[in-house]
Amino acid sequence: MAEKFVIEPSGALRGTVEIGGAKNAVLPVIAAAILSEHPCTLQNVPNLSDVEAMCILTESLGVKTVADKNSGVLSIDASKINSLDASYELVGKLRASFLIMGPLLARFGRAKVPLPGGCAIGSRPVDLHLKGFAALGAEIDHSHGFVTASAKKLKGAKIYLDFPSVGATENIMMAAVFASGQTILENCASEPEIVDLANFLNSIGGKIRGAGTDTIKIDGVVQLEPRTVKHSIIPDRIEAGTFMIAAALTRGDVTLSNVLADHVKPVTAKLKEVNVNVEEGDFGVRVFCTPSAEIIAADLKTLPYPGFPTDMQAQFMSLMSTAVGTSVITETVFENRFMQVGELKRMGADIKIESRSAIVEGVPRLTGTQVAASDLRAGAALVLAALRADGATEISGIHHIDRGYDCFDSRLNQLGAKIKRTENV
Ligand code: UD1
Repeated sequence: MAEKFVIEPSGALRGTVEIGGAKNAVLPVIAAAILSEHPCTLQNVPNLSDVEAMCILTESLGVKTVADKNSGVLSIDASKINSLDASYELVGKLRASFLIMGPLLARFGRAKVPLPGGCAIGSRPVDLHLKGFAALGAEIDHSHGFVTASAKKLKGAKIYLDFPSVGATENIMMAAVFASGQTILENCASEPEIVDLANFLNSIGGKIRGAGTDTIKIDGVVQLEPRTVKHSIIPDRIEAGTFMIAAALTRGDVTLSNVLADHVKPVTAKLKEVNVNVEEGDFGVRVFCTPSAEIIAADLKTLPYPGFPTDMQAQFMSLMSTAVGTSVITETVFENRFMQVGELKRMGADIKIESRSAIVEGVPRLTGTQVAASDLRAGAALVLAALRADGATEISGIHHIDRGYDCFDSRLNQLGAKIKRTENV
């Protein structure tokens, strides 16, 4: 039975919340584990439906995974792979599943994967992934909605990405681990999740330098190290940013632990610009509002890291919906990522879309009503808006939210929110 959230307005959220491991870091690392015949253990793994889906997908290829959800430990043993073909039913569930292609191609010289699904935010092609594989010498074949990549032996190459795609950078980096010679990936993504993946690959015996900059060099190795690796996943900067905006929206005082302040810098900078206080220290990050201070409007443009993350755009729009003044929010990373706008308008927000920008005229109050989460971050944005709306808000489609936030409702409730999870009858 589908579930929904029923959210009553809360006062100021207060307290401490511990941030979990990053969804967008753990998914590529699970794919990368396919490269190695030797088992590995991941720590700080978030308990998310996307992580479960990725494990089920790799298990369908022969990988053994054992998850201890209480301790956040995931053991992966890819010593025996018995299939190089991924099924449509499994891959269709999340776009990150396309990341199994690079490791399968690298280790076995062949992979057949359906074109991916995932959040409904634009067409999200995989041409850059495939151009990269082809540059390494793979033959690419498309038929019946599946892509097959095959190569007797991949060869290192110089690859310039037209756009710093996160997924393409990760997939090509993994494909190049066993390629002969050196691969140089230019204009690549520099997100913290890329660095986490490179660290994992190096810990299993890969030779990767430059992750976190726009040029990554991968020296092909003949084999990986026969050692059992333990790798701790970095904290989720998007989950952290979402809780930071929840604190700001409710004019609360929330401290985040297990967060890397550097990774949330773009969100911190924007919050300071709109009159919200942010403090950083050994304790983590504290977000609080001075009681009399008004939140003022500010413009925003999403950009690849270290710019403002597209995955925080919808949540920031909820904050701007009740700010004083007009903000222009421009989405440059995805072409169709304003799915939350129609629903925020139903809650009383004043927003107009003009091409890739949303013009948000702040209103004094939002009002609760029935709304639907269309994708993960749009869903999170509706939850945040509901915390401050007058009256109750019912949000359906919350399975999208569970893809990327572990126990979002109960963790917000611990800070003082009033969210009930019920069956959507
Ligand atoms: C990852 C994140 C996602 C985040 C996005 C941008 C994961 C699991 N997901 O998604 O949460 O919103 O980065 O920070 O890590 N593109 C192409 N051709 C390609 C690949 C991408 O044109 O081959 C385009 C996309 O359509 C999009 C843009 O590049 O417009 C960015 O996509 P990309 O960085 O690849 O995002 P994902 O890796 O899918």
